[in-house]
Amino acid sequence: MPVVVVSSPKGGAGKTTLTANMAVAMRQRGWRVTAIDFDSQNALRFHLGPEAGETDGVARATYEGRAWRTVCATTRSGVDLIPFGPSNRDQRLHLDEALTVAQLRAEFADLQRSPADLILVDTAPGEGLLQERLDELADVGMTVFLTDGASIALLPNYRGGAFLHPPLPGEIPRFGVLNQVDKRRRLSRDIADFVAERASRRFMGSVRYDEAVAEAAASGFTALEADVEDVGAVADIRRLAASLDQLVRDVCVA
Ligand SMILES: Nc1ncnc2c1ncn2[C@@H]1O[C@H](COP(=O)(O)OP(=O)(O)OP(=O)(O)O)[C@@H](O)[C@H]1O
Ligand SMILES: [Mg+2]
Repeated sequence: MPVVVVSSPKGGAGKTTLTANMAVAMRQRGWRVTAIDFDSQNALRFHLGPEAGETDGVARATYEGRAWRTVCATTRSGVDLIPFGPSNRDQRLHLDEALTVAQLRAEFADLQRSPADLILVDTAPGEGLLQERLDELADVGMTVFLTDGASIALLPNYRGGAFLHPPLPGEIPRFGVLNQVDKRRRLSRDIADFVAERASRRFMGSVRYDEAVAEAAASGFTALEADVEDVGAVADIRRLAASLDQLVRDVCVA
């Protein structure tokens, strides 16, 4: 069962928004998607199903030794959501201790129900212990970058400069995504052009800055559900989903 992990070196890049939108897009492409929130902000639910994750989630279930299935809710788009849930300090610290790579693998395997299963994981920003382990067992990594100076300054050193080179044989296919690209702003445009020229094989695609994305999120929806027209960021997200679909199929067959 393919596991896709969404990460970013900086906070606020759009991981949670893209995880939710990609989950819906992949569901619409026929995958049986389970979206899992590994960030104590417990925000993925606001996009997919606000009623989930209010009282229980992966943090508490793991602490109490319960299977993640017990906190999995099917949301209105058909995406299954495992929210982080409310948590206290002990429960959060316990996650790092309990969720070894082997344990994570076992939990993911326990969620498998059909050959069309796909897991999409939202993470906290930065490079903590849990992020590293999730990254290690990802079949495909999606790393979200903003087109600002600070994000792009990280490129040469982030993951040993991996995003400036084509993937090496045997390496986890980890791809960048540029988010909130605004072609009206010179810096954003220059960065998007630089990436297209210098690192296109390492970037899965880009999503433009679009008020519709933030507005949909503010109303508890993904842009894909709120906006059926294939324009703006919705079109970008659908294109990104087509690329991810192909990548995941390649990884599964390989
Ligand atoms: N393509 C986009 N166009 C417009 N606004 C966007 C876009 N993507 C994300 N946003 C907005 O950017 C803000 C940050 O997004 P989000 O919370 O998804 O980032 P994050 O990487 O998950 O943050 P954190 O690191 O805190 O978890 C939100 O207000 C969201 O609505
Ligand atoms: Mg987030």
